[in-house]
Amino acid sequence: MVTAARVVRTLAGAAAVVIGAASSAHAQSASTRDRASTDPRIVEAGGKLYRRNCAVCHGWRGEGTVANWNQPGPDGKMPPPPLNGTAHTWHHPRSGLMLVIRQGTVRIGGNMPAWKDRLNDAQISAIIDHLISLWPEDVYQAWLKRGGYN
Ligand code: HEC
Repeated sequence: MVTAARVVRTLAGAAAVVIGAASSAHAQSASTRDRASTDPRIVEAGGKLYRRNCAVCHGWRGEGTVANWNQPGPDGKMPPPPLNGTAHTWHHPRSGLMLVIRQGTVRIGGNMPAWKDRLNDAQISAIIDHLISLWPEDVYQAWLKRGGYN
């Protein structure tokens, strides 16, 4: 099960995405594009994008920037949670993570910016792969059991 999933991830990575090339994202089918990849080059590229765009709010290694991340801040909105597996990012399948990063939560009254006009799907997907690579093995396994690749 785990091995198969990892193989699928590797294949998806090998077949997929040249980071930064928007056209390649469009050439991929949605199912291929949204799979995680263990290809270290993709994880590394995702890490660079993450540190440039996301770390200011979510911490350099996804550790978060706000102690009480699960309580609304002074503005009544939820602060940025850690993304390194210590909060509940792993409760979301890849498709859910793609969605929240693409669309953000500003339009529904939150403080998470939308990224769909600044990052293409391949770049967002690589960032997710980077985030998954930060999760401890038990968190990753729990995410798989919940259907993380859905
Ligand atoms: C300006 C600060 C800010 C930046 C920059 C930012 N975020 Fe967020 N992010 C937030 C906030 C605030 C939330 C909580 C939103 C809510 O609950 O309404 C959030 C939530 C999320 C969530 C949902 C987490 C969960 O556990 O449900 C993910 C995933 C996420 N951000 C990823 C990213 C990624 C990837 C980037 C960079 C491309 C990024 N964020 C950049 C502020 C930010």
